[in-house]
Amino acid sequence: MPRLSAEAEITSVPAPAAGRAEVIRTEKLTKVYPGGVKAVDEIDLGVYEGEIFGLLGPNGAGKTTTTGMLTTTVIPTSGRAWVGGIDVIAQPALAKQVIGVVPQTNTLDRALTVWENLYYHGRFFGMSAKEARAEADFRLEQFRLTDRAKMPVLALSGGMAQRLMVARSILHHPAILFLDEPTAGLDPQSRIALWEILGQLHAQGQTILLTTHYMEEADQLCDRLAIVDHGRLLALDTPGALKRSIDADTVITISADGDLDRLAAMLRDSVAGVDNTQQVDGSVALGVRGSRAALRDVIAVAERGGYAINDISVSEPTLETVFIQLTGKDLRD
Ligand SMILES: Nc1ncnc2c1ncn2[C@@H]1O[C@H](COP(=O)(O)OP(=O)(O)O)[C@@H](O)[C@H]1O
Ligand SMILES: [Mg+2]
Repeated sequence: MPRLSAEAEITSVPAPAAGRAEVIRTEKLTKVYPGGVKAVDEIDLGVYEGEIFGLLGPNGAGKTTTTGMLTTTVIPTSGRAWVGGIDVIAQPALAKQVIGVVPQTNTLDRALTVWENLYYHGRFFGMSAKEARAEADFRLEQFRLTDRAKMPVLALSGGMAQRLMVARSILHHPAILFLDEPTAGLDPQSRIALWEILGQLHAQGQTILLTTHYMEEADQLCDRLAIVDHGRLLALDTPGALKRSIDADTVITISADGDLDRLAAMLRDSVAGVDNTQQVDGSVALGVRGSRAALRDVIAVAERGGYAINDISVSEPTLETVFIQLTGKDLRD
């Protein structure tokens, strides 16, 4: 991580939560785009050193805008933000030194080879030719791209290009790595390969902030995550704690034709242990607590009400359940 010499350049940072170093902090961070869209609405969050932190939300939630403000490409309308103790609004050039960024779109330089994309990035960040060469070689090896070193980047598959973007983003040893929807559009195999890479970087102590609309990704990768929608932060905790916050230990989802409002009301009234009901996509999801007979009861009640059951499933609460409970809608919409 580049050393920050001038003490005066570090503006006052709010005190972190007891005992753990906070490397990202936002205070009422807000972005209103010209035309009036409030893309990010007074977001307060803190990210600890060494954690993988996720911003989970559907398209349009404000994830890219939040990342953009933290990485100095989007100017906040109001509020404040610090990365590595540096105020991103007051000191954007300094902030850029301590972050690595993998944006949502491919920003590799097509005029350069795979290796050159790394080498010139190192040179741009002030490395000597020798150092940049060594770092480029090392990262190609680490990301299993050595055999592609001399190829033009256009010859890379989507998964390889994404690995090269990650390799480039950490070449200058940033304190914080930002990845915006890093696995969107990747095939399942490339997605898993990228998860492994992020896991390795995490094990080496790299602080990572990623955005995603895949709840499995957030669940598997993130130490903590913030659920966002319409620019608002709706919940922030570990995946486990978020799932436990659902007042139910089982979710029964029943899909049927007909009046689902009436079906939901019948199930609420007649099935023991129902904590809440949600309607999504032609089905009713019941959060149920501690009732072994619930599945049998749900079927009986639906049949008594004259409903033809299309499908029924039993699952544990997921982050999807949490999202539905917070917003009344599906993450996939
Ligand atoms: N440059 C822009 N100008 C105007 N509106 C924008 C711009 N970029 C994003 N938006 C709007 O801001 C909201 C949040 O967008 P974005 O941050 O891209 O969300 P996400 O990354 O979660 O999909 C959306 O309503 C989007 O249409
Ligand atoms: Mg986005």
